[in-house]
Amino acid sequence: MSKQKLWGGRFQEATDAFVERFTASVTFDQRLAKQDIQGSRAHAQMLASSGVISEEDKSSILSGLDQIESEIASGDFEWSVQLEDVHMNIEAALTDKIGIAGKRLHTGRSRNDQVATDIRLWLRDEIGILIDLLRSARSALIDLAESESDTIMPGFTHLQTAQPVTFGHHLLAWQEMLKRDQSRLKDCAERLNECPLGAAALAGTTYPINREQTAQLLGFRKPTENSLDSVSDRDFAIEFCSAAALCMTHLSRMSEELVIWTSAQFNFIELPDRYCTGSSIMPQKKNPDVPELIRGKTGRVNGHLISLLTLMKSQPLAYNKDNQEDKEPLFDAVDTLKDCLLAFADMVPSIKPNRTVMREAASRGFATATDLADYLVKRGVAFRDAHEIVGLAVAEGVKQGIDLAEMSLETLQSFGSMIEADVFDVLTLDGSVSARDHLGGTAPNQVRAAAIRARATL
Ligand code: ARG
Repeated sequence: MSKQKLWGGRFQEATDAFVERFTASVTFDQRLAKQDIQGSRAHAQMLASSGVISEEDKSSILSGLDQIESEIASGDFEWSVQLEDVHMNIEAALTDKIGIAGKRLHTGRSRNDQVATDIRLWLRDEIGILIDLLRSARSALIDLAESESDTIMPGFTHLQTAQPVTFGHHLLAWQEMLKRDQSRLKDCAERLNECPLGAAALAGTTYPINREQTAQLLGFRKPTENSLDSVSDRDFAIEFCSAAALCMTHLSRMSEELVIWTSAQFNFIELPDRYCTGSSIMPQKKNPDVPELIRGKTGRVNGHLISLLTLMKSQPLAYNKDNQEDKEPLFDAVDTLKDCLLAFADMVPSIKPNRTVMREAASRGFATATDLADYLVKRGVAFRDAHEIVGLAVAEGVKQGIDLAEMSLETLQSFGSMIEADVFDVLTLDGSVSARDHLGGTAPNQVRAAAIRARATL
């Protein structure tokens, strides 16, 4: 293949070898080959139907692109750093194969609108895959929440036992986070779904192009509005990384809880051996590596968001070579999120809750103190006074080393004379969770209803 620069006309000396390597992007942007070919097909078809190139040229361009596509797929395509990027590698190979018609493909087009199109096509596909992965993670959470709708565990604030909740309720809280992540990705895909082709280098082109046609051929909702913006806009990549960083942040929170729960001190759940590794020195160890790594990889994706924001900050219109730096962060954000969602979705169904341990933990730490206060309020005590009475009872419990439910009726009555034997109905864990019986509450029947509603939004 000829390695001659496609833009070499005005140059008198060869590019410095270091500069060639420094400015090249082909080592990473070859990942856009499929989309680049897809875009070239649409562009060639449009040029032919607008009469800019002949039908014969179009046919040979299309068949040349077919050949190149299969060479790339089979690994036979020879990528060259001298040809800088994916666009010029493919164009040079095309001209090699079909001659002069190949040189006509770039009519009315620039790499600037070409690359803007390629990344949008690529990201649109990837978001589709990520949304499917989010669906399977959510579906796994919903299934587990349903089967654990009666399992009682301590609910925490400040990581201190607060009130009893059902494990299913906790899992559905995770599910809500991922549901919002899914809708953010959908929004992002919707907003990026406009076709920059036709913007050419920055100002548009003098040929009678049909932008509606290329947009339609590539499945875009419409062509972009402004040529300058079209070649410089990378909002969609930033927006994606922001949604990805937030999703990773959610996964890191869930992973952190898994890590805490698998510790010997909590022992709330067990993870299957295949998700853990041992220690080379401590024979007793079973480390929750997968959730730990998900937690750790969040840093990469958050970093990619900052990279892209910083890349774009203060950039003048229109295209600048800086934008070539958009790809590696974007690719890695997609790859990392994909792997983490895959691992998470696969791990959830194999989480084994230790129900007795969870229940036992909920019965310590005065988790039903608020229930006692609510009981007093229902008997006419003002909430602040009730809060005070229960506080005194808790202090007594701490002194004696017993929970409220373990106190005698007489002891409880010494704090509030209106307390009667039915107080023990609200001091039990089951009574406490079942009483929170409203939309969004932790009662088992509410959790089951919420799971059904959540499943309908998958
Ligand atoms: N490799 C370039 C990029 O990723 C393609 C566009 C280059 N355009 C240019 N005029 N140098 O941004």
